[in-house]
Amino acid sequence: MTRPSLAAQLLRRRTIGMLVAEAGTSSEGPGTLGRHLSMIQLAMISVGATLGTGILALLAEQIPHAGPGIWMSVLLAAIPALLSALSYAEMAGAVPVSGSSYSYAYVTLGEGVAWVVGWCLVLEYGVSVAAVAAGAGQYVDETLAIFDLSLPTAIASDPSAEGGVFNLSAFLLVILAMVLLLRGVREAAWINTVLVLLKIVVLLFFAAVAFTAFRIDHFSGMFDTFFPGVTGAAAVLFFSYIGFDAASTAGEEARNPTRDLPRAILLGMGLVTVIYVVVAVAAIGAREASWFRENGLVTVLAEVTGQPWFGVVFSLGALIAFASIVLTVLYGQTRILLTMSRDGLVPRVLGRISPRTQTPVVGTLIVGIVIAVAAGVVPLGELANATSIGTFAAFTVVNIAVIVLRYRRPELPRTYRVPLFPVIPVLGALTCLALMSQLSASTWIAFACWMVVGAVIYLGYGRRHSRVGALAEAKYRAALVEA
Ligand code: ALA
Repeated sequence: MTRPSLAAQLLRRRTIGMLVAEAGTSSEGPGTLGRHLSMIQLAMISVGATLGTGILALLAEQIPHAGPGIWMSVLLAAIPALLSALSYAEMAGAVPVSGSSYSYAYVTLGEGVAWVVGWCLVLEYGVSVAAVAAGAGQYVDETLAIFDLSLPTAIASDPSAEGGVFNLSAFLLVILAMVLLLRGVREAAWINTVLVLLKIVVLLFFAAVAFTAFRIDHFSGMFDTFFPGVTGAAAVLFFSYIGFDAASTAGEEARNPTRDLPRAILLGMGLVTVIYVVVAVAAIGAREASWFRENGLVTVLAEVTGQPWFGVVFSLGALIAFASIVLTVLYGQTRILLTMSRDGLVPRVLGRISPRTQTPVVGTLIVGIVIAVAAGVVPLGELANATSIGTFAAFTVVNIAVIVLRYRRPELPRTYRVPLFPVIPVLGALTCLALMSQLSASTWIAFACWMVVGAVIYLGYGRRHSRVGALAEAKYRAALVEA
């Protein structure tokens, strides 16, 4: 048999029929995933992966730049995220599998783009879990400091800090999430729902306290710094919406995926946007914009109540927020790799499902341990910053995938359709590309290096093991006609 050209390999597609037929199955062995997740649990997976550093730390940092119009920055930042979320909702309803944007790319744009997106998702999910866990270590230190306790320097940080050897809290946080995921998705989703509700309560508690010190005159002049203040802050705050796509990695474990995935993605986005705006309005109502040059949200709580220990509540809230990000994003990473392994683009062992726990057990162990060690010892630096480029790339492809699928499969049943087609997905793709172009040169260089590694892995492994590539030509053609 002659080997197809590289171009033919990059363009070969899987069909929705193939993916749906394989949904939930193991890439080797007898286990299958179970359909356990409700719409609310799916929405909580999205909120769990989204609500974190953006609102807890970045918002206050951006207030002095945006001025009292910061709440408009929060709303503006939601627009590109919402445009892409609408596209995700349509694709998740039409292609209800666990590969998220990677699978959407495979059925529309072919194996090459799918691999690029899958590799970007390893940045968005895998690398960012390690970075978030490493950041959480800082909150562990702050929480301990309130009780006059501290970890020895050697186990408080990775080697990039003076005296640091190993970031133990970051390592343990990832291991804990891994153990939970190994026990089963039902329990993990339940715990995640509790964690998400707790982090929402902490933010609402902040807002309630801040509103007791509300002064309307803090909002005067809020349109004065619209350009570039409010708009610049909006670009930074887009980060706080990243993660809404996490529900789309649960397609094969949702009880009713075509109905619930679009609802969960949009509910998660809506909830997060409302909470962010309320927190921003409460913060400005309580203190003037310039005050935030020196202070963060936690100080609002301490000053308004006159009780320094309110800081403990906030630090604990932050820890809970990070724990649920680590849990949900690690979950997403294991499911994306499971899907990729079924397609043959990564080793099959990553998709072996335990019949007992209905989880990809070897994949979860490998991914969990690699990420835990990375979080403990590797200063991720620029690579962590490059996660935003990877995310924008994935979002852009999903917007394009919606357009391609509407033209190629107009008759396909869709439980949700993007309104104002094709304006919304076109705008979604353009805004993501525009935001991508704003990122720094060093971030782009880190991203380029990451993609070179990805290309080497594809050329050395994926293209030879691709499942669709193993199909006889006639069978492949017949499958494409069916789709
Ligand atoms: N949206 C996530 C956060 O704000 C990435 O931490």
